[in-house]
Amino acid sequence: MRHFISIADLDRTEAVALLATAEHMAATQSRSIRKLPTLVGSTVVNLFFEDSTRTRISFEAAAKRLSADVINFSAKGSSLSKGESLKDTALTLQAMGADAVVVRSASSGAAHQLAHAGWIDQPIINAGDGAHEHPTQAMLDAFTLRHHLRPGDPNGGLDGLHVVIVGDVLHSRVARSNMLLLTLLGARVTLVAPPALLPVGAHAWPCEVLYDLDEALAAGPDAVMMLRVQRERMVGGGFFPTEGEYSRRYGLSTQRAARLPDHAIVLHPGPMNRGFEIAGDVADSDRSVIVEQVASGVFVRMAVLYHLLATDDREDAR
Ligand code: CP
Repeated sequence: MRHFISIADLDRTEAVALLATAEHMAATQSRSIRKLPTLVGSTVVNLFFEDSTRTRISFEAAAKRLSADVINFSAKGSSLSKGESLKDTALTLQAMGADAVVVRSASSGAAHQLAHAGWIDQPIINAGDGAHEHPTQAMLDAFTLRHHLRPGDPNGGLDGLHVVIVGDVLHSRVARSNMLLLTLLGARVTLVAPPALLPVGAHAWPCEVLYDLDEALAAGPDAVMMLRVQRERMVGGGFFPTEGEYSRRYGLSTQRAARLPDHAIVLHPGPMNRGFEIAGDVADSDRSVIVEQVASGVFVRMAVLYHLLATDDREDAR
């Protein structure tokens, strides 16, 4: 593995290996070994052109728990506001001795461009690019699903699980990465969205697509993943008739959650619009693993940094 840009670049063996490393990282943390010496002397740069709470902080925590140094670089307050290009930013980071660059951008393909334009030699990790992909989010979601619903599975996957992903699929890099990863790991995925919040081509994806949340929930899924409605990306309007109608038809209310099988869990990548796509009671309920997802994110990001910076995988890929 040279970079971590897209779930589409992984095969099942690689995905299972990453999850197994994340399990190992989780085990070290639960034994109170908070800091491993694995990446002493390495520098990880967090290059965030878009706001983030969970992803940026958990990459920082993951790198520090592996003893790497971390440089946080956000677009606000940098020379990007003076018109500096992505290329010159990349060259600057390389000159400063970055060993890996974690990048979040509003532009789909930004991480791929950094990885493959030849400006920088270091591994690039996609921390979310536009509406394209958020591969470490999908890995942490798979990690959390496995922990609850397939603990100790010898195949290391999610075979036979049914996961319903609900909401603003059109703008969601989380939905796309999860659809790819969960199906790769053997889960059945159902996407539920209003027609206007589905991307063109979604019907050709390897999953079921429905417009009716109650129909999807009647199938008794093992997990429901609610997506944030990304109002900030809805320029021009016309995505759904009213917010009230969206909430009534696609929100995970207390009543809807009560109809789920007893073992079913509820996920949300955050940040949440409480009371809109998910009721506050549901987000805080025993079914909710939303806070646990954040903890899983540190273990998964430790695993990604480990595979990119501390194993022979990197040399093999050159
Ligand atoms: N889930 C997620 O990517 O959250 P942040 O935007 O806070 O990083």
